[in-house]
Amino acid sequence: MEQNILLKVSNISKTYKIRKGEWVKAVDDISFSVKKGEIFGLLGPNGAGKTTTVKMICALIRGDSGEILVNGINNVKKRTKALRSISAVLEGNRNIYWRLTVRENLEFFAALKGKNPQKIKDKIDYYIDFFNLREKEKVTASNLSRGMQQKLAIATALVSGTEIILLDEPTLGLDVKASYEIRDLLKRIAKENGTTIIITTHDMSVVQEICERVIIINNGAIIAEDRVENLMKLFDTKSYRFVVEGKLTSQQEELFEKIDQVVAVEKNSKTEITFNSADTSLFYQIIEVLKAENSIIESISQKEVNFEKVFMEIIEEGDKNGKNSAVV
Ligand SMILES: Nc1ncnc2c1ncn2[C@@H]1O[C@H](COP(=O)(O)OP(=O)(O)OP(=O)(O)O)[C@@H](O)[C@H]1O
Ligand SMILES: [Mg+2]
Repeated sequence: MEQNILLKVSNISKTYKIRKGEWVKAVDDISFSVKKGEIFGLLGPNGAGKTTTVKMICALIRGDSGEILVNGINNVKKRTKALRSISAVLEGNRNIYWRLTVRENLEFFAALKGKNPQKIKDKIDYYIDFFNLREKEKVTASNLSRGMQQKLAIATALVSGTEIILLDEPTLGLDVKASYEIRDLLKRIAKENGTTIIITTHDMSVVQEICERVIIINNGAIIAEDRVENLMKLFDTKSYRFVVEGKLTSQQEELFEKIDQVVAVEKNSKTEITFNSADTSLFYQIIEVLKAENSIIESISQKEVNFEKVFMEIIEEGDKNGKNSAVV
């Protein structure tokens, strides 16, 4: 086994039967590996096959073909042993026991992963406080708000300290503060404890902030796989925006018209000049043109490429190339 690879997914496929004679290929020959301590994103539009992949990793559903090794252990053939190193928060609200209290849930799930709840009392208390659930410690899960239930679900996954944590849409339904705190927490446990975190999310700011590497799935197949910073670089055409007081002179207009990447638009007695290019000499050229006629520059701003844009471009590119249709 390659060093440090904690999860190895090889050529997995899954077909669901919808009704007689009609099938959907939810996962179509997907392979990837995740290293120890890595925060790995599993991305893709609705129906791409993310949750199906997550469920296959947790051995909750059987695939048609392929193999998944957790720490080198086959998750179907040696299910119990393999699953000892995985905690998961799945999509939806069935991750916790409704009739158990907050504390009981934490104790129960830790025990499921072989931890003695008494011995990790401090850790349980830590997560109760971290997720702001102290007041609700003795309240049954069914009586928590939706966001609190989600926090408890994440806490139950974290408290057992397994090597791999799978989170399907963890920040969905959380308030802004909690969402930010969880990002920090995940980064910290990956770094400090070497925990491997696999996350699916539609929140691209979460991806940009915490994921090191991602795969993007569409119609059950991988259409991109790389480090987030590399994918960002692919679309790194810098974009600048100048706001100038008043109108441009006709000479300035003429000069700008000659440059393809530059667009000048008049707006409320101001002129907005934008240009999309990584070419910095063009930036100085614009300044020169403005300076020559003593134009007053009110502001210059730079628009950074963000991961949301990168994601959209990759999906659109895949669709254009007619990447496989999901229905077989
Ligand atoms: N139990 C099921 N029976 C039949 N079809 C299913 C079942 N579960 C998922 N599918 C289908 O498999 C495909 C992939 O679904 P999946 O839930 O894995 O997508 P996803 O990437 O998690 O999407 P989302 O972002 O909406 O959560 C979809 O076409 C879905 O309709
Ligand atoms: Mg899903």
